Amino acid sequence: MADRILVTGANGFVGRHLIAAAVRRGLQPIGVVRSPAGAAAVKAAGGRALAVARLSSPELRAASQGARAIVHLAMIGSERPGVTYSAVNVEGTRSIARIAIESGATPLVIFSGLGVARYGQAPRTTNRYFLSKLEAEIEVYRSGVPAVVFRPSYIVGPGDGLSTALLRDLASGVVEVPGDGRYRLQPVAVADAAEAALSAALDPPQPVGRSAHRVIDLAGPEPIAYGRFVERFADLARAYGHPADFVVRHIPVAEADRQAVAGGYRGMLPDELDCLLCDEVADAAPLADLLGRPLRPLDDAIAAAVDDVPHPQ
Ligand SMILES: NC(=O)c1ccc[n+]([C@@H]2O[C@H](COP(=O)([O-])OP(=O)(O)OC[C@H]3O[C@@H](n4cnc5c(N)ncnc54)[C@H](OP(=O)(O)O)[C@@H]3O)[C@@H](O)[C@H]2O)c1
Repeated sequence: MADRILVTGANGFVGRHLIAAAVRRGLQPIGVVRSPAGAAAVKAAGGRALAVARLSSPELRAASQGARAIVHLAMIGSERPGVTYSAVNVEGTRSIARIAIESGATPLVIFSGLGVARYGQAPRTTNRYFLSKLEAEIEVYRSGVPAVVFRPSYIVGPGDGLSTALLRDLASGVVEVPGDGRYRLQPVAVADAAEAALSAALDPPQPVGRSAHRVIDLAGPEPIAYGRFVERFADLARAYGHPADFVVRHIPVAEADRQAVAGGYRGMLPDELDCLLCDEVADAAPLADLLGRPLRPLDDAIAAAVDDVPHPQ
């Protein structure tokens, strides 16, 4: 019988790619969701859906019995009224760690965030989002569950939020860049992110020291300044038939911050804007080691994202 893995947040951007990748590997992924629309997305990706009301639901506990591993993606990047980091990122992860231990569905694989290790050292990684990701990691470490923790930079590929927003801006003829655009990111292809999560689930890397854990930065092969990323993205979007005659409008960081606090800067709440401006990069070698091959080049990751979107007539 095919190995079963449980995936929380399975109808999200990464989750959908992960479900499809698991099916391609001959696994039986069960996508944990909380709505009929979520279940439909998992089924469309080829997986089986399990709808639960909460991440501590008995149905999830039962489904994890006999599963090979759990990949926990269900977290949030900003708070909204009634939806807190504490409830989703921290308590949710605590529940999943407990379920993984009790059911033996390990390793537990979670997606944290690149930059959490610099909390308190850099202003843009010192916010409640990064704190909650740090707390989620600590829930996993304290529980003692064998785990692989990935810390992603931006994950790029068909359906990602950054590419969708940039394509929209390019079509409008104006791309706004807060500040000088020299802050860096290190985008990783969603195909590599999905494959890494599966590799970690099926063949976990050695834990470190006396822990039961391994932490791996999930960053692509090329650190790049955001301003330069916009240009690279536009070149590829144009090559794939998207409108990309545009001007860059620089706006002061303080003005972007003001708009983020006032309700959203181009859709980004303050913690989300911090993720863009945080200037976090990493050594990508451990990720390539895990995959046993070079990482997908940045241009390939962008091309996959822009090729997915229907071209305007
Ligand atoms: N994408 C990136 O560039 C990036 C970068 C750094 C870290 N990460 C981390 O990687 C993981 C996956 O990211 P993503 O881009 O795939 O996120 P996403 O598209 O926003 O998906 C989030 C998923 O979590 C689920 N979820 C949210 N709140 C929940 C709750 N209270 N209970 C159960 N499920 C809940 C969502 O379900 P609903 O649809 O029902 O809301 C959705 O399936 C997240 O932990 C994220 O923080 C992503």
